[in-house]
Amino acid sequence: MSETPHRKPRILLGVTGSIAAYKSLELVKYLKSSAEVRVVLTAAGSRLVPENELKKASGFPVWTSLFKGATPIKPGTPGGSHPLAVVPHIEYAKTADLILIAPATADILGKLVQGLADDLLSTLCLYASCPIWAAPAMNVRMWNHPAVVSNRKILLARGVSFLGPDNGHLACGEVGDGRFAEPREIAFQVESHFRHFGEWTGKKVLVAAGPTREPLDPVRVITNHSSGKMGYALAQAALNRGAEVILVSGPTRLIPPAGIKTYWVETAEEMRNRVHRNFPKSDILIMAAAVSDYRPSRVSKTKLKKTSGGLTLRLRKNPDILAEALKNKKSSQIIVGFSAETDHLAQNALNKWKKKPCDILVANQVGKKGSGFGTDRNEILVFSRKNPKPLWFKNDLKSRLAEKLLDEINKF
Ligand SMILES: Cc1cc2nc3c(=O)[nH]c(=O)nc-3n(C[C@H](O)[C@H](O)[C@H](O)COP(=O)(O)O)c2cc1C
Repeated sequence: MSETPHRKPRILLGVTGSIAAYKSLELVKYLKSSAEVRVVLTAAGSRLVPENELKKASGFPVWTSLFKGATPIKPGTPGGSHPLAVVPHIEYAKTADLILIAPATADILGKLVQGLADDLLSTLCLYASCPIWAAPAMNVRMWNHPAVVSNRKILLARGVSFLGPDNGHLACGEVGDGRFAEPREIAFQVESHFRHFGEWTGKKVLVAAGPTREPLDPVRVITNHSSGKMGYALAQAALNRGAEVILVSGPTRLIPPAGIKTYWVETAEEMRNRVHRNFPKSDILIMAAAVSDYRPSRVSKTKLKKTSGGLTLRLRKNPDILAEALKNKKSSQIIVGFSAETDHLAQNALNKWKKKPCDILVANQVGKKGSGFGTDRNEILVFSRKNPKPLWFKNDLKSRLAEKLLDEINKF
């Protein structure tokens, strides 16, 4: 990761040939409020968003060609430098703090994996030493194609971070994963990366996120609607501040940010083991997972058969991961717990806080449209040992709420 620069951060924005390319105009506008933005537009990208508009938006010429501006060395020139060494966009790439490819096509992901350098953007990605972030945008079938799935795994392992894609209506009329993340949200993550970078360097943060799945038989499970988005947003925010982050994740459709060690778990028991193994060496534990309170007393080895009558399930209590962590907590450690409530938010959360006195208890409203499980937004009530009264964070994007929660943790 690059150091926090004292000048304005320099972003090289790669715009590729996705149907969402026109949204890069809005993205540039947001990015420019905190960074200098230079645009590299691919040939396919230039068919979908006018170069001139990007020039106007960024305030700089748009780079489209590897060779434009390159001065060939005259034959016989002694010891002449390589022509590319004096090309302005190459010079800029040397000092860029971030390459952001948004939108990123399936094509550019494939090129990055292969190390191809057949145009300006792919060449600069190989050349620059700054982090690369990609905000993919493509049809859901392209996104789920085994080649693309494999490419993104390879890129993640190499440290490329992904922003999105979102799930929703796609330009082609289909619905699913592959939707370009909201430009405002992308810009927010970039800004947060530069604003807070280094603040939490040296801190170890353990985040548990997502639902758990308790098997009933080989095909059925007991689970809940948690998408993991709040926990992942917190993990990303801690990473943006330079912390070493470990994520223990239940089954979700989300891609963990690059640079985060992720353990995938299914059941509450597995989550408990992973959390407890990593808790002693963590400075902060954020239990944002929706852990199933109960599991079937007995897991059938074969699929339970339908009978003419009903079916009564016997359930047994799962371990309370948060309560156990509180018992083992050292005074230097900070624990943040979550309480999902459908009703009497404040009172129910306060009761939970009394029973499990974590440093911060976040009560979130679930079961309401536009907030809580499965959505990008949330509204939360924050009980903190550092505040005399609970704080109300009104309905906002989870990424923004994550930032505010980290600011609350900072008070300890
Ligand atoms: C109208 C149109 C929309 C497209 N939208 C996408 C898209 O959203 N995602 C994608 O991966 N490819 C999309 N493509 C295909 C890419 O433009 C194509 O793969 C191209 O080679 C990408 O080149 P680039 O990555 O250098 O920009 C689209 C093509 C057309 C004609």
